[in-house]
Amino acid sequence: MTKDIERVLLSQEEIAAKVAEIGAQISRDYEGKDPIIVSILRGSFIFMADLVRAITIPCTVDFMSVSSYGSGTSSSGEVRIVKDFEGSVEGRHLIIVEDILDSGRTLNYLMKTLKTRGAASIALCTFLDKPDRRVVPVEVAYKGFTVPDSFIVGYGLDYDQKYRNLPYVGVLKPSIYGE
Ligand code: IMP
Ligand code: MG
Repeated sequence: MTKDIERVLLSQEEIAAKVAEIGAQISRDYEGKDPIIVSILRGSFIFMADLVRAITIPCTVDFMSVSSYGSGTSSSGEVRIVKDFEGSVEGRHLIIVEDILDSGRTLNYLMKTLKTRGAASIALCTFLDKPDRRVVPVEVAYKGFTVPDSFIVGYGLDYDQKYRNLPYVGVLKPSIYGE
């Protein structure tokens, strides 16, 4: 796998420090609120697993799956809820955990949909943000790192379902996706 990586963008150590910081911040902000932390599958599963272990207050975890990208490298604009989360959100505080914010289409759509369900509050926590690619606006409450407009893999992020298990974040060699 390593031979397909052009350069390492974020080391395991940098990621761990940032996740600890966000976990501490969420713990302070949601003290006494018992938030529901919803991971958007599959890209955020590793970030989610580390993040919830950095949160020191009681919380509920849940999972949701949406389809947007297919196997290519750019967003289709089409968003579909493939797997919804389980519990009722009526009066609860939701924190949506995403791997990367790119065009913003997925999250823009999802946040709109979730706002109709009667939650007390909804906040977005994204591991990475690629602001150069934004097409629709999305409000972010917690952000790990801002990244350049390159195709990024590792720490949960894939190209064609591969590289999710890399423990760091790297830029994929353009030759891999045929550019
Ligand atoms: P958006 O709707 O364009 O914001 O797309 C967000 C989704 O696209 C993310 O949840 C990822 O699954 C995927 N994505 C966007 N950029 C990258 C990238 O650089 N590497 C891997 N997946 C990406
Ligand atoms: Mg994703």
